[in-house]
Amino acid sequence: MSILLSPVTFRGLTLKNRVVLSPMCQYSAKGGVANDYHFAHLARFGLGGFGAVMVEATAVTPEGRISYADLGLWSDDHVPPLARIVRFLRDQGAASGIQIGHAGRKASSAVWWRGRFDETEEEKRLVGFEDWPTVGPSAIPHAPDASEYKVPHALTVLEMDDIRAAFVAATQRAERAGFDFVEVHSAHGYLLHQFLSPVANQRDDAFGGSLENRMRFPLSVVKAVRDVWPSEKPMFVRISAQDGIEGGWTVDDSIIYAGALKDIGADLIDCSSGGFEGGIFSVGPGYQVALARSVRDGARLPTMAVGLITTPDHAEAIVREGDADLVALGRIALDDPNWPLHARLQLSGAEDPYAEWPRQAGFVVRQKDRALRLRGFAPDLS
Ligand SMILES: Cc1cc2nc3c(=O)[nH]c(=O)nc-3n(C[C@H](O)[C@H](O)[C@H](O)COP(=O)(O)O)c2cc1C
Repeated sequence: MSILLSPVTFRGLTLKNRVVLSPMCQYSAKGGVANDYHFAHLARFGLGGFGAVMVEATAVTPEGRISYADLGLWSDDHVPPLARIVRFLRDQGAASGIQIGHAGRKASSAVWWRGRFDETEEEKRLVGFEDWPTVGPSAIPHAPDASEYKVPHALTVLEMDDIRAAFVAATQRAERAGFDFVEVHSAHGYLLHQFLSPVANQRDDAFGGSLENRMRFPLSVVKAVRDVWPSEKPMFVRISAQDGIEGGWTVDDSIIYAGALKDIGADLIDCSSGGFEGGIFSVGPGYQVALARSVRDGARLPTMAVGLITTPDHAEAIVREGDADLVALGRIALDDPNWPLHARLQLSGAEDPYAEWPRQAGFVVRQKDRALRLRGFAPDLS
């Protein structure tokens, strides 16, 4: 019996399995509005058998976008196209989540696949190019030598209150769109992580200095989100469990932060890492799984593991051995949007390994495999 492919419940939400589509920016929106590309991109993971599908980092203010092409939730106009995606995913039996965030000093940066602002004037018009001043805990740029990263304005407490209010409003819109869960983005060197880490936070007020002070703003944002998010719906938080930088944020800090997040009602910590210039990591299969394990054991709450988890056997082992409760897939899901369906054919114990396919396709895929004696019909070689 596969644990990975068995249901799991958080508050009032039961996921049909423990495979989650990791949030991935697609840099394909204009004015923050989801379009047909986003629908098709996300819909295929619902068809592909994911237990939950998470929408990419979605900005709570226009200035909080990583790039001009990010999704947003700062306006009611953003709700209907997201609601359409949610409805479709629900029809496929997939839960839907949305990651809400603010990029802080990493906002207004280049579209990832471009790497820099190289849009021609014609392209700028077509893609809705925008560039704007950034904000952060302190006036320290993300990368002093890169023209795409500006020196941020150090936020005043009143401006921080406005950003918290924007998180609240975005959460309420996410609820109106029908999302089953929300994830607060507190990772990857974006605004909340900037407050947490001494690498970016050199404030000398109540929001800088000690660990307790650096956690104050992020915790207040997460608490404000939890307060307006329905109590029967789970709230996840993505963290960078370590900066990989001397003097930066550490796994021990993450365990303390996760404990405080749990106390204010976080249901799961999604454990990633890094996000600041100069972070050193050794990247390989499951390279962040140990972080999910440390946070899970240290703070005693559910975690999600992510990062080069690509095979069903590996994902199954992560859940079975208690390293994490959920497994998030990023690039492998882009490579194979049917990953969970294929996992079901590979992992033993499923009664009918074709049952989870959309009914429009499953019976003919089964036919094809039977004719070719493949997968579910492969001769037993033992
Ligand atoms: C194209 C792309 C966009 C991404 N955008 C986001 C994002 O919006 N929010 C986030 O927290 N992580 C983002 N990530 C990180 C992924 O969610 C994931 O943590 C990372 O890719 C490692 O998992 P993988 O090895 O399975 O791809 C992105 C990754 C990729 C490849």
